[in-house]
Amino acid sequence: MKHLWTVLALTVLLTACSGAPAAADNGIGDPGKGKQIYETGGASGVPCNTCHTTDGTTLVGPSFQGLPGRAGSAVEGLSAEEYLHQSIVDPGAHIVEGYELLMPLTYGDALSEADINNVVAYLMTLE
Ligand code: HEC
Repeated sequence: MKHLWTVLALTVLLTACSGAPAAADNGIGDPGKGKQIYETGGASGVPCNTCHTTDGTTLVGPSFQGLPGRAGSAVEGLSAEEYLHQSIVDPGAHIVEGYELLMPLTYGDALSEADINNVVAYLMTLE
């Protein structure tokens, strides 16, 4: 009987763990995996940090410093997460002022939906 309770308790615990987001997970995806894609490009092979930085330095594209703070007001009607998702899969939908459409148009095909959500989750952790 005691054994049964242990099994039950473990089951409840495991269910709770798999259902609840991990500490660093903000509910969209896995920021740790997203950071890897940012740095390697994942299946696309083209790293985001070829053109973007997180420290305010401008390369080809805008720096992602402070991005979560401005992403929510970039396009009317889109939440920060929706805007970031759109920026990755359809960069031409909204061109950031002062920049040109130089971002690869291939991420939406090359990356899986999970990959994209992980990148969005990572971007949402930036300050
Ligand atoms: C070849 C250069 C290049 C690469 C590689 C690139 N980008 Fe971009 N990105 C740009 C440029 C240029 C812009 C600004 C023009 C525009 O809005 O499309 C931009 C804009 C963005 C924006 C909007 C930023 C803002 O301030 O509103 C996001 C988000 C973004 N990129 C995410 C990514 C992610 C994520 C990756 C990797 C998966 C990536 N980019 C790879 C060039 C690049």
